[in-house]
Amino acid sequence: MVGEVIVEVLISGLRLKHPVMVGSGVLGDRPELINRLIREGEPAAVVTKTLTKDVREGYLPPIIVELGCNSYLNAVGLANPGIKVVKELVSIGVKYDTPIVVSVAGSSVEEFAELAVIADEAKASAVELNLSCPHVKGLGAELGRDPQTTYEVVKNVSSAIKIPTWVKLGPWDNVIDVSGKSLEAGANVLVLVNTLRGMKIDIYSGRPVLTARIGGLSGHALHPIAIRVVYEVFKEFKCDIVGVGGVFNYETAIEFILAGAKAVQLVSALINNPPSIIKEIVSLIKSYMSEINVRRVDELVGLSHKV
Ligand SMILES: Cc1cc2nc3c(=O)[nH]c(=O)nc-3n(C[C@H](O)[C@H](O)[C@H](O)COP(=O)(O)O)c2cc1C
Repeated sequence: MVGEVIVEVLISGLRLKHPVMVGSGVLGDRPELINRLIREGEPAAVVTKTLTKDVREGYLPPIIVELGCNSYLNAVGLANPGIKVVKELVSIGVKYDTPIVVSVAGSSVEEFAELAVIADEAKASAVELNLSCPHVKGLGAELGRDPQTTYEVVKNVSSAIKIPTWVKLGPWDNVIDVSGKSLEAGANVLVLVNTLRGMKIDIYSGRPVLTARIGGLSGHALHPIAIRVVYEVFKEFKCDIVGVGGVFNYETAIEFILAGAKAVQLVSALINNPPSIIKEIVSLIKSYMSEINVRRVDELVGLSHKV
């Protein structure tokens, strides 16, 4: 018997009480929603909805489609209240002693740094650069797919802020190259992965279901791809990774950790489940550790590379 298990993790110098966070996208752009997430779910940290320089209205509905089997397609269009709300969002984390990671997306290399500095000044725990939104022109994936532009964005940001720089990438074919460039440029953590471009067509009208036509695939369908990306990037760089894509239960979370992630984020799981799903996953991670006689969760990080 291992006695009490330890699920605390240290990632980019940030101490997390356990490895399960809320990822960017759902419930992370309004103080009252973050408040509810923290009170009911007790996540290790909350990543805000991606904030841009100005308010964005996003696309008209439908912006999200349920595909069944806990998989979704979304094209929200990065609707968000703008970086001006950052202080208010961070203050909720301060109140509950829960780190708030601020996700930002700029329209240029310089704008990324400008937004990151605002987040730093607002006392965010880290900045997550969204270099991977698959359905918004002029932001996100258009910049982050290119290793050289990624290098410039990350370098500019990491040299301008004191808090850790997290870089969120998509499941692209060149994700190893882009990961390498991000780390070279000073990224402290890689957040893997964002959604994968997908589409759904209504067979009676012949129309694409999403207003934006193309959206991002998330949930269960994304999970094996995300696990593969985390596995390959960890194998190459042995860096700090946060895994995201299809975490709905303790099994999917543990898989990420065994592949090399120190922590996980969940997003789609919060579309149809209450925040308490986070607490349940943490409790089952602890039971699993007791069952297999592992005392510290960090002993599991990357273990699948050794067996
Ligand atoms: C409705 C919705 C909105 C999202 N918005 C963002 C966003 O603003 N910024 C971002 O980096 N990722 C965003 N994502 C992507 C998620 O953070 C995550 O990378 C992806 O959904 C895979 O995780 P999941 O399977 O747990 O949903 C969004 C996802 C969904 C479903």
